[in-house]
Amino acid sequence: MQRTQEMTSVQPDWEKFYPRPISEKIPFFSKDGRVYDCLFAQQLNRDLLTLLFRTADRLREVTQHKDGADYVSGLLSDKRAMLYFAQPSTRTFMSFLNAAHILGVKTSEIRDSSTSSEVKGETPEDTVRTFSSYVDMIIMRHPTPGFVEKTAWLMNRTGRPVPIISGGSGKDQHPTQALLDVYTLYRSFNGDIDNKHIVMVGDLKRGRTVRSLSYLMKNYNKMSLSFVSPKEFKMEADILDFLKRHNIPYQETEDFKGVLKTADAIYMTRIQDEHDKAGESKKVDYSPFYFRQENLKDIKKTCVILHPLPRRHEIEVSVDDDPRAVFWRQERNGMWARAALMAYIFGVDGKIR
Ligand code: CP
Repeated sequence: MQRTQEMTSVQPDWEKFYPRPISEKIPFFSKDGRVYDCLFAQQLNRDLLTLLFRTADRLREVTQHKDGADYVSGLLSDKRAMLYFAQPSTRTFMSFLNAAHILGVKTSEIRDSSTSSEVKGETPEDTVRTFSSYVDMIIMRHPTPGFVEKTAWLMNRTGRPVPIISGGSGKDQHPTQALLDVYTLYRSFNGDIDNKHIVMVGDLKRGRTVRSLSYLMKNYNKMSLSFVSPKEFKMEADILDFLKRHNIPYQETEDFKGVLKTADAIYMTRIQDEHDKAGESKKVDYSPFYFRQENLKDIKKTCVILHPLPRRHEIEVSVDDDPRAVFWRQERNGMWARAALMAYIFGVDGKIR
């Protein structure tokens, strides 16, 4: 791909670039007005979301038959992608891997940085630059806040940039999880996401999925949010400020049962104890934030229950049999939504719809 006007414009050093508002940084991660590096949920506007959902719907239809699957798998058979996951993952990794294969993209992977030359003292920056020598796209998950963005920033300053897709960055963001979450709402509500009450439950302070999903709510009209969490793990102020700026009403509460009746979607999350500094999660009673079989009678017939997964105890397993529990479908939706995103970034989405 050619370097673009946006990418080649003079950029300050990383230390000056990183703290800038995301709205100012988005052009640097765009090409010809389209998303090039997918790093922030704020890059996904309503038109783009709709386009990706239609592409994902079409992909799942077309690939039901061998002719269609063969056609789609030829679209990007000249491309290679690297999956670099420096944090554990099942769903994001597997769904991106299979999304790539649906489109014919050849893949390579590193899932444990102890198997890369980082152990010989190579910097993470040089390591990701090395990946880019061999592939046309890097999909990465990294525990260090901002490192996925820094990789994209670095790549865009080289003579051979490749697009970077975030598969989860520190505690900051998980934009493609938010993409598949909203795709699941789109499919659950027959394409009509406006005017919904979304209830997010659990460890909202340290969950990157709820942060990214909150950002996407600005794309829809008359949305309202309820944040249900232990007081220790309330949603962070930057997200609340964002909602205020976009006139999206929200409430914060510990009264889970109280908000269930009016929910159109309930988004459950697990406790994020991998971010503990001194075992603080063990001091919190998380059980009031579990969705149990008995709660099913309190929710609307049309309400849907989502979870980014993995689950621990926060949704009783017997709830899975209820048709309103859509988290297993949500998981599979991730593969189609991510395939649509890859097709879009490589510019072949128009050949699918
Ligand atoms: N939802 C999600 O990101 O799952 P994994 O950690 O298994 O990828």
